[in-house]
Amino acid sequence: MDALEELKNVLAEQRTVRLIEDDIYSVLPDTSVQHHYDKRAALYDAVVKTWLYNFVMWGTSPVHYVQFARQALNSARDGMFLDAGCGSLLFTARLYVDSNRRIVAFDQSLAMLRRARERLRKLLGCVPEHIRLLQADLSDLPFRRKSFRTILCLNVLHQFADATALVSGLNELLSESGNLYLTSLISNNRIIGDWYLKALHRTGEFVPPRSERELRELFVNAFGERMDYAQNGNMAFVTTKTRAFL
Ligand SMILES: C[S@@+](CC[C@H](N)C(=O)[O-])C[C@H]1O[C@@H](n2cnc3c(N)ncnc32)[C@H](O)[C@@H]1O
Repeated sequence: MDALEELKNVLAEQRTVRLIEDDIYSVLPDTSVQHHYDKRAALYDAVVKTWLYNFVMWGTSPVHYVQFARQALNSARDGMFLDAGCGSLLFTARLYVDSNRRIVAFDQSLAMLRRARERLRKLLGCVPEHIRLLQADLSDLPFRRKSFRTILCLNVLHQFADATALVSGLNELLSESGNLYLTSLISNNRIIGDWYLKALHRTGEFVPPRSERELRELFVNAFGERMDYAQNGNMAFVTTKTRAFL
């Protein structure tokens, strides 16, 4: 299917989408606006991909992010897959290339999306037809309700003040039996991780750190028992079993 047609099928009716450069589409009215990660894209990729950074600062490992994303991809054979805040596909590009799922990966930062495109081109020589790169805003989700069978939101929630709004917005996009896979940094009495979370909050990178209890409560309020919660160091991994009827 034509990329624009496919994207229109998952967008809400009043939204328009256009190709803004090779293999990158946008629903944002002004693509010249700079976003927070545009200036940080190269640094993010260089630092966050390393085992050392993740182990020392957060007590976790990139391997866990890849495993979690793999679980999300393998949770269904078909149905659209949404990567919300996909960044540069740092942990997911290889999985996506090898997957049969149809994937919409969106982020507001063009610099991150360009890096995602480069990563896919390096792996495959092109952006494959089953992966659509889209510029869109998590605070103003442009998608049609119930369009996605699986949603992955990796390492984003700790940057969002209104976590309830984001989780309920993503939930709205899930099909009846759809699953949300989400990770978030939390404070949990790991001295270095808790200290660094607070430092990143002070510099404006993150919102005030949430505790394990706060994050669990957020999901229990929305999904009740229909969720799994796991933790590795300062990183929480949440999987919802079905869409919540909020
Ligand atoms: C910490 S990075 C995570 C990227 C990727 N998911 C990963 O795990 O490598 C956070 C990403 O969220 C994106 N982001 C932050 N606020 C956003 C918003 N309002 N709309 C869309 N993307 C946003 C940033 O541009 C950035 O790429």
